Amino acid sequence: MCGIVGYLGGKEAMPILLDGLKRLEYRGYDSAGMAVMGNNGLDIRRSVGKLKELEQQLQTAPLHGTVGIGHTRWATHGRPTEVNAHPHQVGHIAVVHNGIIENYLELKKQLMGEGHTFTSETDTEIIAQLIYKYSSQGAGFLESVRQALRQVRGSYAIVVINAKEPRTLIGSRKESPLILGLGDGENFLASDVPAILSHTRRMVFLEDNDIVTMTDAGVEIQDLNGNSVTRPVTTITWSPAMAEKAGYKHFMLKEIFEQPRALIDTFRHRVNPDNGKIFLEEFHLTAAEVKNLKKITMVACGTSFHAALVGKFLLESMCRLPVDVDLGSEFRYRDPFVDPQTLFISISQSGETADTLAGLREAKSKGARTLAICNAVGSSIARESESVLYTHAGPEIGVASTKAFTTQLVSLYLIGLHLAKELGYRPPEQIRQDLQALFRLPTLLQEILDHDATIREIGQKYMKAENFLYLGRSIHYPIALEGALKLKEISYIHAEGYPAGEMKHGPIALIDEHLPVVVLATRSPVFEKMMSNIEEVVARRGRVIAVSEADNYTVMEKVETTIAVPETTLELSPILLVLPLQLLAYHIADLRGTDVDQPRNLAKSVTVE
Ligand code: AGP
Repeated sequence: MCGIVGYLGGKEAMPILLDGLKRLEYRGYDSAGMAVMGNNGLDIRRSVGKLKELEQQLQTAPLHGTVGIGHTRWATHGRPTEVNAHPHQVGHIAVVHNGIIENYLELKKQLMGEGHTFTSETDTEIIAQLIYKYSSQGAGFLESVRQALRQVRGSYAIVVINAKEPRTLIGSRKESPLILGLGDGENFLASDVPAILSHTRRMVFLEDNDIVTMTDAGVEIQDLNGNSVTRPVTTITWSPAMAEKAGYKHFMLKEIFEQPRALIDTFRHRVNPDNGKIFLEEFHLTAAEVKNLKKITMVACGTSFHAALVGKFLLESMCRLPVDVDLGSEFRYRDPFVDPQTLFISISQSGETADTLAGLREAKSKGARTLAICNAVGSSIARESESVLYTHAGPEIGVASTKAFTTQLVSLYLIGLHLAKELGYRPPEQIRQDLQALFRLPTLLQEILDHDATIREIGQKYMKAENFLYLGRSIHYPIALEGALKLKEISYIHAEGYPAGEMKHGPIALIDEHLPVVVLATRSPVFEKMMSNIEEVVARRGRVIAVSEADNYTVMEKVETTIAVPETTLELSPILLVLPLQLLAYHIADLRGTDVDQPRNLAKSVTVE
């Protein structure tokens, strides 16, 4: 996810763009850049790393002009280098972009065949090249943008400036946010409200395929066919501080609600559901090397460790390879068996967790092949691994990990399918069906999010409990662990996740009328066993909160509370079932008044052992 901003008015653009980028930096901080229409045409500054690098560059080499665009990058295609930093300039055109252009490789090949030369590894450059091509062939600025956008597939929010029309700014969006800010004698474009809220409260939330043309005469919105479009003007009442949360009370809630988008951004450019093809270009083992693997070892901490536990079920079932999973803080102290025929997978949102990094180094010292599943481009774990599969969750601000977890699970699912295909365990038709199920998942998540108010009511009912128990079996057991961790780390209520089958070996002594017991009881090969566990708890007056299908009356008639979830495949069900548990933990913590985004004693990234 990146942050983009644009300005056209009477003031110096540089400070306005810089302020906007600062408020968008949470969206990504691998590189940053700015382009302004100066007296001698287009003037660009770009820098790798956080925004402060660009700020320092601008102090020594400022940009002067009253029309400009800015960008802060979260790398998807192309390493975080200056060449790959935005804005991308081609001749008299400069573009900033947030999104993923899925067909950029085929378009790039086509344009190179027409004699265009490319300078970056990014997908974004293809947009600048196409606009430049049509503009050079005589098309007007707006028409050039329109023709270019008709060629691309994928998601985009772009802002474009043109040295041939220095008092014009053009923006457009498809599946990535772009907001138009209306000022007095000046107008703004940005990825998010916070970037421009200090200049205006009058916002237009552009919709897919809108193209906005900004000049000193004002703004005009059209669709891709050139038809004029009218959009309502919204007056924002948020304070700038609130706006960074886009109106959500906490970053954690915003990130829970971002999960459908985060999943799409993680899988969409890596699969083709029509023909079952999977493109994990970042995975550098050849088919022969995959066939030579004898085992998989996964190491992680906290929520990422729970993702690894789900991964064990997925990978053993899909790839018929033994998978062992260990905590980062334990792995390196047991002289683990790892060798060149081991695929070592580290999972980490931050890419800086010391215990996980130490495990990676231990595995490398024993010759293992290494793959990282990581949400931070250029982080230590990503850099020190041979292959990296980035989760495109975007920066996760809340200490309690949510969208990083579900995108980790999607990444494990993709790796499992890829390995199963390479090893011949899953025929193309099955993989095609698996990918179709994956494409349906974001909509199913949204269905649960649409019932958030119901889960808040359930939170009100149980918020005063002093202990919770979470039970799950098989592939849902790690979700029971994750649900308990979410609750305990933000509400400070003691909560324990447990394999449901273990209840009779001790924990059943805890059951009484004061104890809420969250049970994951959807239709699965172990459903009957889960029903027995529910009976055991109910017989001892335990208060069962069941997560189950809306039409699962067998469960509903037995328990005190049911949280309904839609149906999906068993392999994808952990991604669905964790969502109500995230929301339940959030609402109970919010109702108890704890600091949800920065719980006591915790830090977002544990870079110490
Ligand atoms: C998750 O809610 C916790 N904040 C914590 O367990 C976290 O998952 C753990 O510290 C691992 O972090 P990482 O994914 O950045 O390696």
